[in-house]
Amino acid sequence: MNNKLLLRALAGETLPVPPVWMMRQAGRYLPEYRATRAQAGDFLSLCYTPDLAAEVTLQPIRRFGFDAAILFADILLVPQALGADLWFETGEGPRLSTVTTPGDLARLKPADAIHEHLSPIYETVRILARELPDETTLIGFAGAPWTVATYMIAGRGTPDQGPAHALIQQDRATFERLLELITEATIAYLSAQIEAGAEVVKLFDSWAGSLAGDDFDAYALAPAKRIIAALKARHPAVPVIAFPREAGARYVGFARATGADCLAVDNSVSARWVAENVQVDGCVQGNLAPGHMVTGGQPLIDETRHIVETFRGGPHVFNLGHGITPDADPENVALMIETIRS
Ligand code: CP3
Repeated sequence: MNNKLLLRALAGETLPVPPVWMMRQAGRYLPEYRATRAQAGDFLSLCYTPDLAAEVTLQPIRRFGFDAAILFADILLVPQALGADLWFETGEGPRLSTVTTPGDLARLKPADAIHEHLSPIYETVRILARELPDETTLIGFAGAPWTVATYMIAGRGTPDQGPAHALIQQDRATFERLLELITEATIAYLSAQIEAGAEVVKLFDSWAGSLAGDDFDAYALAPAKRIIAALKARHPAVPVIAFPREAGARYVGFARATGADCLAVDNSVSARWVAENVQVDGCVQGNLAPGHMVTGGQPLIDETRHIVETFRGGPHVFNLGHGITPDADPENVALMIETIRS
């Protein structure tokens, strides 16, 4: 029997205690992360220094004993590998050179040219595959094409993805060619992570919720389906987690339609609704509100128990509904894990 609980849940097994990991589990809420980041100098240097990126990936495993480690990197490394400028403004977030015209698109590199730039990331994966405990699953990841495109088009994070929606209206052909390029690059990137030792991959579509109707089908569902089909053709045994965040009613049937082995859900949908409408199709991941990692106490215990109980009838991976925030208290993470496992 496989001793990796995450792989068992992703294979469809209903377990007495769900595996647990946390989005952004390596991050600023941990003093040891802040120390290693200071040693690296800045966030991007941390991503591109394999020893240090592996170190911060391992920190939450040592401290909390999560069932999975997620590669420390960022979804915006792919645009950078395609030739976009990328930097992080302290206290504000990412900034990129923008892609909004056929000329901008022509200046990007082809999808298969990304590996040279991304080779340090593959080295981080190789280190982790060697160093992780036997029972800990290594997760690789990439941003989904729509979410990555929203950053490339706007040159930054936006509350409503307005610039990307505007490009769809004004020059759909350019938008679709950009999406196509990112899709190809994502297939190449995730395949290389798997070849380096990632045992599971996750596609983060953080802004899927801003797509509606046919646009959701064309720009969230179809690219996920294509990426998963290409990965399954090369690596049939490697499970894929899809996270079309804030998809709401569109979570229903998403895993079946795309071939994902597990659907991750955010905390804007209730666990009860997800159990009844999504978990009927297979494994789900989620969905404790990240705010509990700040506030803690009895509400954290009660809500953690409620989520475990609600998903008990089928395969479930315990996680937050979105990333843990820098103001979270590590003690609350320990309390969450203890509650799940007791
Ligand atoms: O989950 C993990 O621990 C693995 C590493 C990881 C990071 N980013 C590290 C990171 C993963 C999986 C991501 C994904 C990511 N990055 C997403 C999708 C998931 C989501 O959160 O919706 C997005 C949209 C990004 C882009 C990004 N990276 C933004 C908008 C920011 C700035 C916001 C912020 O939290 O500061 C980042 C920076 C970033 N990525 C940090 C970390 C740990 C903080 C950097 C720091 O140390 O200052």
